[in-house]
Amino acid sequence: MKELYDGDRITGYAVARKVTAGADAGAWYWYERIGATLYADGLGTENAPKTLCGDCHSRGTDFVYTAVSAR
Ligand code: HEC
Repeated sequence: MKELYDGDRITGYAVARKVTAGADAGAWYWYERIGATLYADGLGTENAPKTLCGDCHSRGTDFVYTAVSAR
């Protein structure tokens, strides 16, 4: 989950949650809202969750961009 900011004000939220085993965007639930506009809400099997969120996130590691390193 990440908060979306306009300056220091939170204007929206983006969520990606892996819901099943698998190596494609359809294994993830995608949600994004900015203000009153809903950009994605559903599995990455079709529509915006697939073509918008999934396509870009496919360049991450298992659809995740933020790297977490062990210390
Ligand atoms: C043009 C490419 C692009 C698109 C389209 C895109 N993202 Fe991302 N997303 C990124 C990048 C790059 C990061 C890591 C940097 C950051 O957090 O800003 C990220 C980070 C995230 C994160 C934090 C976890 C992570 O992977 O690092 C979530 C959750 C997320 N995006 C959800 C979404 C959702 C939901 C959509 C569709 C509405 C979406 N993204 C569309 C590029 C994209």
